[in-house]
Amino acid sequence: MTDDSLLPDDWKTLVEHSRAARARAWAPYSRFQVGAVIRNADGRLFTGCNVENASYGLTICAERVAMSTAVAAGATEPTVICVSLSGQPTPCGSCRQFLHEFNPKLLFLLDDCESTDPPPSVTLDALLPRAFHFD
Ligand code: THU
Repeated sequence: MTDDSLLPDDWKTLVEHSRAARARAWAPYSRFQVGAVIRNADGRLFTGCNVENASYGLTICAERVAMSTAVAAGATEPTVICVSLSGQPTPCGSCRQFLHEFNPKLLFLLDDCESTDPPPSVTLDALLPRAFHFD
């Protein structure tokens, strides 16, 4: 499903920003830190980290924090998102649907922050076939 030919030339920059965001995760319950960075079509970068809450269901994933931050700045054309965590990232179903709203072909870089290898790349349409949308 992943396709290394999709990896952008500046992947190291994206990984750097995503890992820096991960360090800001608010995850006192799971202790599982996640960072993300979104590049908008105009080149701007927006980061996010997971934000947990004592009322567990209110937790927000790093991907949705990054996308919401972008939208709040008027950036609604994400082209790439890099997600960093310790292990092999795979975005949750809610994040897939949430991001589909803005770009069904969004490119994901799945960064294992313990690794120095280039992150695997996969597009959202491969991760979420037949997504719900209004015509
Ligand atoms: N989490 C993310 O932020 N992104 C993912 O892709 C997977 C899960 C967060 C939610 C929660 O704070 C913690 O990781 C454990 O599920």
